[in-house]
Amino acid sequence: MKNLRAVAASIIASLLNGNGSLSSHLSHHKSSSDYSLLQEICFGSCRWFHELSFFTDALLEKPLKQKDMEIRCLLIVGLYQLRQLSIPQHAVLNETVAATHDLNKPWAKALVNAILRNYLRQQEELEQALLQAAGSSRLSFPDWMSEQFATAWPEQWQELIRNSNQRPPMTLRVNRNKTRRDDYLVKLEQQGISASPGKLAESSIYLGKPMAVMDIPQFSEGVVSVQDEASQLVPALLHLEPGLRVLDACAAPGGKTCHILESEHLLTELVAVDLVSERTDRIHENLERLQLAAQIITADILNLDSWWDGKPFDRVLLDAPCSATGVIRRHPDIKLLRSADEVKRLASLQQAILLTLWSCLQPNGLLLYTTCSVLPVENDLQIQRFLETTDNAKYEGITADWGVECRYGRQLLTGAQDGPDGFFYSLLRKT
Ligand SMILES: C[S@@+](CC[C@H](N)C(=O)[O-])C[C@H]1O[C@@H](n2cnc3c(N)ncnc32)[C@H](O)[C@@H]1O
Repeated sequence: MKNLRAVAASIIASLLNGNGSLSSHLSHHKSSSDYSLLQEICFGSCRWFHELSFFTDALLEKPLKQKDMEIRCLLIVGLYQLRQLSIPQHAVLNETVAATHDLNKPWAKALVNAILRNYLRQQEELEQALLQAAGSSRLSFPDWMSEQFATAWPEQWQELIRNSNQRPPMTLRVNRNKTRRDDYLVKLEQQGISASPGKLAESSIYLGKPMAVMDIPQFSEGVVSVQDEASQLVPALLHLEPGLRVLDACAAPGGKTCHILESEHLLTELVAVDLVSERTDRIHENLERLQLAAQIITADILNLDSWWDGKPFDRVLLDAPCSATGVIRRHPDIKLLRSADEVKRLASLQQAILLTLWSCLQPNGLLLYTTCSVLPVENDLQIQRFLETTDNAKYEGITADWGVECRYGRQLLTGAQDGPDGFFYSLLRKT
């Protein structure tokens, strides 16, 4: 399949069928000369999927059959380009209509052509209709998710959705073993790269606009890494000291593993575990670039016998698998992939991992629980449930001026352009 719009439509159809993720599909196209445009169209079509679906439904005389899902997705891809990109209209129409051929649906040529042209003719009325449409179309968000946001955050949910629909900032983590943040900011300025320091984490820098990783000054020498500001709070919260034995329980691709090692080089040991071997490979790559070392194990963290030598840890970081509702701006496919049932499944998994890891923690040791979710069931309520059933656990409290103070942790809600991702932190001590 060569037509880029056809590729984009089939990727989005796969997501709707529950197969893969944007990053897994796009990884097969990285060497393509049109990769940036493909990425832009796929990300944008997911970000605005619910809004674009409203226009598609309004323009189709009768709904398309399930087997023609790719044509529905092609219409979404076409509308995204017309609404948000500066590609000339005739090029959008030609390329999108031509994609029907690569999708093996030549019958849809006239239909796609008519719908896109009708959109251009009726744009004003359609915009008016959108203003009166149901929440999911207006907000471009799944209903179940906006309902859960509204219940959890009655005052902030609309802003949370607005921020989740924005493009994310590109944020760097300065390796403070190698340079000072202020010095690196000067270097960026000298090279004409606009940037500003983050307000929450002392290592963070927001770039004025995203750039290719290999063009970031001294990236390959390990002076900086790409990491959101919210997750740069880990080392300070873990109360690291020389001589500690630390477990990073769900570690891949290793952003926090590396940051822990950059922050405290006199740890006795850092053990990093992850379930997926392609992902533990990424930890190895990241450690190598930064010239750091850890013991990396591919294993199911729930199966203690498969990875634990029985020696307790002084610190445990559990960056739990979660709904990722705090990072939708970075992964807009989450809106298509997750469901309310999936959140329940993840909450049970998180509870099981917490209970398992508790036995690996030294008495008086600390466990830092974190997720990139904004849903209390994975966060504050999760910790409440754990504390209710675990006698020798107490909430340690997090003294900070960022985020929303919850009963058992602090919640960062997805920020605007120069703000952090949505993240939850709780710190537990074994008594
Ligand atoms: C939120 S991500 C971790 C991100 C990582 N801490 C970082 O900062 O780069 C969650 C990770 O949990 C891993 N995971 C999920 N279930 C697991 C299990 N049963 N055992 C070990 N790792 C698991 C996933 O493969 C995923 O890499």
